[in-house]
Amino acid sequence: MSGSISEQQAVIEAAVKEATALISVAPDAASIRTAVNAATGKKGTLAAVKSGLGRVTDLELRKTLGQAVNEAIEAVERAATAREQTVKREAFAGAIAADRVDMSELALRTGGRRGRMHLVTQATERLEDVFVGLGFRVAEGPEVETDFHNFEALNMPPSHPARSMWDTLFVDQDPQGSVVLRTHTSPVQIRVMQEWPPPIYAVMPGRVFRKETPDATHMPVFYQIEGLVVDRNITFADLAGTIEAFTKAFFGEGFTSRLRPSYFPFTEPSAEFDIRRHDGSWIELGGCGMVHPRVLAAAGLDPEEWGGFAFGFGIDRMAKERHGVEDIREMYSNDVRFMEQFS
Ligand code: PHE
Repeated sequence: MSGSISEQQAVIEAAVKEATALISVAPDAASIRTAVNAATGKKGTLAAVKSGLGRVTDLELRKTLGQAVNEAIEAVERAATAREQTVKREAFAGAIAADRVDMSELALRTGGRRGRMHLVTQATERLEDVFVGLGFRVAEGPEVETDFHNFEALNMPPSHPARSMWDTLFVDQDPQGSVVLRTHTSPVQIRVMQEWPPPIYAVMPGRVFRKETPDATHMPVFYQIEGLVVDRNITFADLAGTIEAFTKAFFGEGFTSRLRPSYFPFTEPSAEFDIRRHDGSWIELGGCGMVHPRVLAAAGLDPEEWGGFAFGFGIDRMAKERHGVEDIREMYSNDVRFMEQFS
């Protein structure tokens, strides 16, 4: 071994300095290891110092130098471990950044304008909230229905004249059982009764279809919300009370409802339900009544044990009333300037 002790110490220091400098900028695990090896490996700078230790005769000196070499090796390893962690973290962050889907891109392109829920969707969610608050559960049924669910189970056998109350769109006509675009949400009553054991307190919102020419108050595709209660000892007063409670919760305390005698094949007695506008005029919102015993039986329930009431009304029509929309067709024109007024 050549050189004085201080020279040896300078070599050690320089080796550590060079190694940590290389490590601090090493871009990946492999280059970190190369830098470590150059200092502490078998052919590294520190190895040369170490192998010369045997020739140092002064015991104290040898000890001091040996310790310095060990400390140097440890320092280099510490630097390497720290750098390895940083490199790993950066690689992970890089992968996440590369995988990121920038959802703001579209918003920025449209000038930062936000989307909003359609008026009918807003009304549907509010209605669901009101009825869930009254203890009802929400159910849904298919938009393409069997003749059985849409008509027959609702006490309208084939060729029953009451079927002409609905301008039906047939998907498939078959003497064994036609398939229709449902003309109302009432078929979901049947599905719910077939699936849920009573007592039942359910509301069923959804899209319905009728062969109708659009005008200010009609659309061939519109939305209804059906209600069904099946329990013991249910009376017409329960129906009237529920409709009144709903009217106040949805439209506000200043509104009242009234029931007018009417006819539906699936309820007996039946009524039409209106609400009174602020100007004192009345608007018809839908139909209701006590569930007909034949309907309970068709859905597999014993009409001696169970009774109940049902109602169904137009969601679009209610949204139209609540927001003072003049023409129901406005709601389906897909004009954002219209939508933006109701967010
Ligand atoms: N389904 C009826 C309609 O669309 C409304 C209704 C529902 C009437 C439930 C009575 C009971 O006209």
